[in-house]
Parts: sequence; structure tokens; C-alpha cells
Amino acid sequence: MRKPIHRPALRHAVLTLLVALIVGSLYLPASAAPAAAPSGQRLRNLSGSLLIGFASMNNFWSMSDSAQYQEVARTEFNFLTPENAMKWDATEPSQNNFTFGQADQHVSFAQTNGMKIHGHTLVWHAQLPDWVAYGSWNSTTLTNVMYNHIDRVVNHWADGQIFAWDVVNEAFNENGTRRSSVFQNVIGNSFIELAFRRARAADPVTKLIYNDYNVETVNAKSTAMYNMVADFKRRGVPIDGVGLQMHLSGNGIDYNSLAQNMQRFAALGVEVYITEMDVGISSTTQANLQAQANVYSNVLARCKAQPACKAFQVWGIPDKYSWRTGENALIFDNNYNAKPAYYALQTGLGGSTPTPTPVTGTRRMQSYNFQSRYLRHQGYRARIDENVSPFEDSQFRIVPGLANSGAISFESVNFPGRYLRHRNGEIWLDANDGTAGFRSDATWNRRAGLANSGWSSYESYNYPGQYLRHSNYLMILGAVSGSLQQADATFREQ
Ligand code: XIL
Repeated sequence: MRKPIHRPALRHAVLTLLVALIVGSLYLPASAAPAAAPSGQRLRNLSGSLLIGFASMNNFWSMSDSAQYQEVARTEFNFLTPENAMKWDATEPSQNNFTFGQADQHVSFAQTNGMKIHGHTLVWHAQLPDWVAYGSWNSTTLTNVMYNHIDRVVNHWADGQIFAWDVVNEAFNENGTRRSSVFQNVIGNSFIELAFRRARAADPVTKLIYNDYNVETVNAKSTAMYNMVADFKRRGVPIDGVGLQMHLSGNGIDYNSLAQNMQRFAALGVEVYITEMDVGISSTTQANLQAQANVYSNVLARCKAQPACKAFQVWGIPDKYSWRTGENALIFDNNYNAKPAYYALQTGLGGSTPTPTPVTGTRRMQSYNFQSRYLRHQGYRARIDENVSPFEDSQFRIVPGLANSGAISFESVNFPGRYLRHRNGEIWLDANDGTAGFRSDATWNRRAGLANSGWSSYESYNYPGQYLRHSNYLMILGAVSGSLQQADATFREQ
């Protein structure tokens, strides 16, 4: 016989599950909520005549977080490069069958939002359909295939709708010799020149660019590129610029050599574009994020110092969509929060981070995990944020604990009489209603910092073991486990 279900046990199980669900939901990270815009000014409004660009990913209009993606794209950037949608495999997947549906959507997004467009790319050995790469060609037939592709693609957006085209991409080896490709192997060295002449004939106003990686500093590869451009200029082969892709690591590059390299191209009379910048770091420690920010800001500084440098582009928006999976290479994190690299660009473009006016006798609470961020309230919800106006929202009076004078409470300078308290696991700024419950929820025991003993952590008077901490950028009351949460629960009173 089957054992009858023991009802109270079932009810207990259901209750436990419900409680777990409710409690669990209190501690949901804030990632579901759209990230706030970064403090300070948007990059595209700071950049003057320098174009600030990004690579727009495939189908960005139909992703689950498309609204957030488009908001950041449209507010921060004024230059757009389709990351994949204009490549040969996307635009001519089989011979003479041209498909522009995807690329047109990128173009129309850019046009709607006042962005210039960078076409990428006409002739490249990669993302090249098999029918081209493995066709049986001779020099004449392959040249005609290349001409037809250039004509049809460039003409689809004729008359300068595309501000600049990467006509040829990545044609050199590291030692400066030509890379093996169907174009190189069948047509020979002249394929680059033929492509540039054809592109000029197809659109007389678009800028024609040669684009490559590891050509940022003076080296064998960039010297081969230099010699080619010098030769083109001497012989009247049309070329307007070179693209330095700028796929870097947190170690950066030799910035003096970058400046010297850009200068020698400028002296030839061509423009320089930073076309695909990203900076890989293995993990998002403060030190790595800062190193990454320094690389971005050093490259930007050299570009700004060189009048021929016309654009600074990043190869994507949030880290999670970067082609460099797991390398945290971009200026927005997975949740579209601006990283130190973003703020480094903002500062480098001349934006200023507002400085707070400290009010005597009060304290700001600096986050140990994100040291440019401080505990503040926005409306009545507490979060950590850059120093954004009104600065009084991040100033607190530390007063004897409302529930116990051996502990402390935090009173807002902006709204005297309102205190930091927890309410169902969240942290709010609330008026003291005088009840015992309120007073103990607004009372904290200051402890040695969980992540660093020179700092402080705050344990709830009402719930020992639960600490004031942030989850992403929202303040919560939570148990702390692991070093990341310890860092999130550690503050410095300033
Ligand atoms: C990359 C894209 O980011 C990826 O989505 C794609 O799978 C491969 O290509 N140099 C270039 C870019 O010129 O086109 C490449 O983009 C990155 C390296």
C-alpha cells in the first residue's frame, strides 16, 4: 500500500518553498532593471569634430535587451560600423545574389540618429563565402567578381551615404609580406590598388580606407602599410585613410610609437581612424579595470593630439556581446553600466566629473569594490553611484543609533529627519516614524571592513549577520558570502 501523503509535511514543504521564493526575490540582483545613464556628459556630445563610433551587432533591433542597447548607442555615439552586416558573406552569399536587408537596418538606425556610417568591408579574406574563396578563377575572372561586388555594394548606398569604406581589410602578414588569400594568390599584389580604384569610381565622395590590426605602432607590418600608402600617393591611386583596429590587452602599447606612426601617415596626407578598439582583461578586478581605462585613455589622448586622427571607435557596446568572449574588453559591463574605461574616455574628451562639495561634519561612504562610487539616495532608494548632483544625496550625518546608542544611524543631509533603513531586504531613506521596528531597522553596528580592515562594514542591528551592501548598484541588506560580496559590503567614511 502506498504511504498516504502526510499533509502537514506537504504544507511545510510548500511554505518553505514560498518563503524561499519570496526571500530569494528580495535578493535578486539589479541586473534586470535597466542601467542608469552614466554621470556626466555623453561621449558624442563631448567629442567636437572627432567621430565617436561603435560596432553595431547583428540583429540589435530584435534582441531581448534591444531597448537598452539602442538607448546607449544613440546617446553615446555618432559613428556606426556594422560589425558583420556589410561583409561579403552577408551581402553576396552566392554569386551575384545581393542581400542588403540586414545592412539596411544598420544604415537606417544610423541615419535616424544622426550618425555617420563606416562601411566594413569590401575585400577581405575572412567571412568570405566559399564560392569566392574556393572558386576556380583566373586573374581576369576573379577581378571581375571583385569589381562586381564593389560596384553593387558601394552603389547600394551611393553618393556618400557611407562616410568611409574599409576597401581592403587585413592584407599584410606580421612581417610585412602579403597575406595569402584568394585575391592575393590569384590576382597578385595589384588587387589592393584595383579595389581602391574601383571603389573611387563607384562613389567619388566616400572616404577610402585600408584597415588592419597590429599596425598601431611602428613595426614591420605598419611599415609595409606605410610603404603601400606612400606608393599609392606617388602614383595617384586613390586612398584617404588608414584604419588602426586597436585590439589590445590591458598591457597597452607603446604610445609614443603610436603617435610617431600616426604622424608618418598624416605626413603622407591620409587620415587615421581608430576603427575597432577593445582592451581585453582577464577579470574585472579594480586594478584590471583601471589598467584597461588607462589604455583607452592613452589611445584617445594620442588620437586627439593628432589632427589627422578623425575617429575613435569601440568594437561593441556591452562586454557580453563582444567578439572577445570573457575578456571584458569594452567600456560598458554586461548590464550596460559604464566602466572606468567609459569615464576615462569621458574625461579624455574634456568632460568633467562633478566634484562634491563636502558638508562639514558629514560623511560620504566610498565603495571598496567600485572606488569611484559612493553610497547615495536617488529619490528615496539607496544606491551607489558616481558623484552626481545633488551632492547632498551622498552626504550623511553619522548619529548615535536610533535603537541603541552603542551603534550608529545614518541621517541624510539633504532630507534631515530621514534615515537609512532596510525595508524587506532593500535599503531606503525613510522618515523616522518613532516605532521600535523603524528604529532597529535604521540602526547599524560598525564593524571592521569585511574586505579590508582599514575600511568599515555595517551589520544590521535588527538582523545580525546581515550587512549593508550593494548588489550591482542597488543597496540591499544581505548575508555576505565570498570575496565579491565582502567587497560590496565594505565602505570608507570620508
Ligand atoms: C569580428 C566580429 O566582431 C565577429 O562578430 C565576427 O564573428 C568575426 O569578425 N577584425 C575585423 C572585424 O576587421 O571585422 C572582426 O570582427 C574583428 C577583427
